[in-house]
Amino acid sequence: MSMKNVTEAMAWRYATKKFDVSKKLSDDQLAMLLEAVRLSPTSFGLPLWKVITVTSPETRAQLQQAAYGQTQVVDASAVLIFATEKIIDEHTVDRYIDLVVQTRGVAVENLAGYAGYIKGAVAGKSPEARKEWAAKQAYIALGVLMTAAASEGIDTCPMEGFDAAKFDEILGLSAKGLESCVMATVGFRSEEDAHAQEKKVRLSKEDCILQVK
Ligand SMILES: Cc1cc2nc3c(=O)[nH]c(=O)nc-3n(C[C@H](O)[C@H](O)[C@H](O)COP(=O)(O)O)c2cc1C
Repeated sequence: MSMKNVTEAMAWRYATKKFDVSKKLSDDQLAMLLEAVRLSPTSFGLPLWKVITVTSPETRAQLQQAAYGQTQVVDASAVLIFATEKIIDEHTVDRYIDLVVQTRGVAVENLAGYAGYIKGAVAGKSPEARKEWAAKQAYIALGVLMTAAASEGIDTCPMEGFDAAKFDEILGLSAKGLESCVMATVGFRSEEDAHAQEKKVRLSKEDCILQVK
């Protein structure tokens, strides 16, 4: 599979509707994609999501039911579900600050101002706004995943067409303090997928990119 530069990759990719069930990602390919996802940036650096890989065909079949029967969920090589933290509060910030301390070897006292600043930002949001905020960070990671995959000639379909509450139940996410947010199915396009040939529908440069002086 040839490497593509980013604009070639973005032109080549499409939301894959039909995956080739016989083509599987190698362990290295999946590991590379998960590493790109892990390295995705978040607001303040606060980790507000996790990514879940689903391997068993039985679980995949259940998820397909909860995703309006979309075939990608069972046909793709991998299914990655981005799930956000159910509770985002000062403890979330404290855990993050601990991680900064461990990672960078700085004294926790030196981060007190930063911690207070982030806690203030969290406190200023309603529970709904926190959920939305976490989802935004997850969607950034989804974008990183799609771009990284395409640059390696790997297909994806980003998917929000599923019943999140049912996904949470099937995956036991509540017990993990998580709720499902958005999903990507990952693998290789089937030659029969006519969508691959369709022209991309996008705003023109003039309509998409506005210059303000
Ligand atoms: C956040 C998000 C959610 C999407 N959910 C679904 C989905 O559930 N099922 C699906 O077949 N396509 C889904 N799509 C694919 C879009 O329909 C597709 O990206 C869009 O029409 C542009 O076409 P292209 O990606 O093929 O260039 C989703 C795309 C995004 C970005």
